[in-house]
Amino acid sequence: MSDYLTFDAAESLDRESRYLINKAKEATSHSYSPYSKFKVGAALILDDGTVVPGSNQENASYPLCMCAERVVLYAASAIYPGHKIHGLAVVAQRAKEKDLVPATPCGACRQVLFEFEERQKKPIRIVLFGPGKKWFQFPSAASLLPLAFDKNSL
Ligand code: THU
Repeated sequence: MSDYLTFDAAESLDRESRYLINKAKEATSHSYSPYSKFKVGAALILDDGTVVPGSNQENASYPLCMCAERVVLYAASAIYPGHKIHGLAVVAQRAKEKDLVPATPCGACRQVLFEFEERQKKPIRIVLFGPGKKWFQFPSAASLLPLAFDKNSL
């Protein structure tokens, strides 16, 4: 179900979330987004404390652009197989602007997050800077994607 917490300031969040937010902010500097000029940074933390950063990667063939969330999830799965993901933060900025822009994960990324969560049988906490310039903390990928399509539907 779609239950989540909201916070006016990042400082009000727990220590791990604040750490991931900072890593996600840093990751925006490696965004390759010459077409959208929209820099997205993500960072996830594994069960052993390893942090994996990622950012959106674009291409002149627009449909090939890849969101920061999927970059970071696929990187974690490829480099640290078998590890469980504890939490993930995502933030966005317009090129040449310092302030964060409210943004929420797209539907495709929610679907991928959901299957990672199903695979590892453990909730993935998600923190994002969203509408109203508030911080949102979701307890799981499932809470970001009610009535998700999954392998049991096949
Ligand atoms: N983008 C992300 O990285 N994550 C999202 O959840 C939404 C969109 C990227 C994709 C593209 O490079 C740019 O933002 C504009 O859509």
